[in-house]
Amino acid sequence: MALKHVRKTYEELGEKDPLYAVLSFKEAQHNQWDSERFFARGRAEISTALEHLSSLGLDVNKGRALDFGCGVGRLTQALCEEFGEAVGVDISSSMIEGARRFNQFGERCSYLVNTSDDLAQLDDASFDFIYSNITLQHIPPDASSRYISEFIRVLRPGGIALFQIPSGPRHEPGTLGAWLYSVRRGPLRRFWKRIRGKPPVEIHYLNQSLVEEAIGNAGGRLLEARQDGSIRRSRVSMFYTATRE
Ligand SMILES: C[S@@+](CC[C@H](N)C(=O)[O-])C[C@H]1O[C@@H](n2cnc3c(N)ncnc32)[C@H](O)[C@@H]1O
Repeated sequence: MALKHVRKTYEELGEKDPLYAVLSFKEAQHNQWDSERFFARGRAEISTALEHLSSLGLDVNKGRALDFGCGVGRLTQALCEEFGEAVGVDISSSMIEGARRFNQFGERCSYLVNTSDDLAQLDDASFDFIYSNITLQHIPPDASSRYISEFIRVLRPGGIALFQIPSGPRHEPGTLGAWLYSVRRGPLRRFWKRIRGKPPVEIHYLNQSLVEEAIGNAGGRLLEARQDGSIRRSRVSMFYTATRE
């Protein structure tokens, strides 16, 4: 039920303005994104992520990579430049259609629609690297923790999963900032968006202990948890690095 709602939102966004739905820069609204610049941002992001892993002394085997919540393939395409093969998975078929249109790598890149709250269509131990950014934050916590366990299941022993999810709002509960934030993201805002014909995008959190539990329950090990300063000031966004022995 909860995922149905997320899916409906992203089906609609993927049909109307897919690049803006992924990176919502005001000047790029109404299909104004320059696709070259959009995909260049993906390449920069993946190269920074791989440099970070190497700064931690982590060796990533460049065989097969998974991009979870791939949208139109901004990061999947970048992964294809680095890995032998990349697979992008998304809940929205309109996003996946867009991703297939932008694909520059033929059969080395494939895209799958996945509407369930697991990754059962992916085999155990079949990826060397899993990346996910600005996706798990749109998924209710029961499902996001399940996907995190699934990342570990589909990871090859010694593989690396690197994913982003906010751990909570930045403001302390009971403060004015927390109240203003709840008003800004609450039912009134969703209603206002709806009447202006804009699908409401939800933000969810998973605190670090639940992320660690999801990793540990699936037989994985957390290697690093770090704050990601690049997202909104209103929430604490985290990047987690995990492996499977
Ligand atoms: C903000 S976009 C980010 C796209 C991509 N990660 C990027 O950074 O270019 C979020 C994407 O997550 C996808 N998504 C949301 N819930 C999902 C789920 N349960 N499973 C797979 N994809 C999901 C949406 O359809 C959308 O394409």
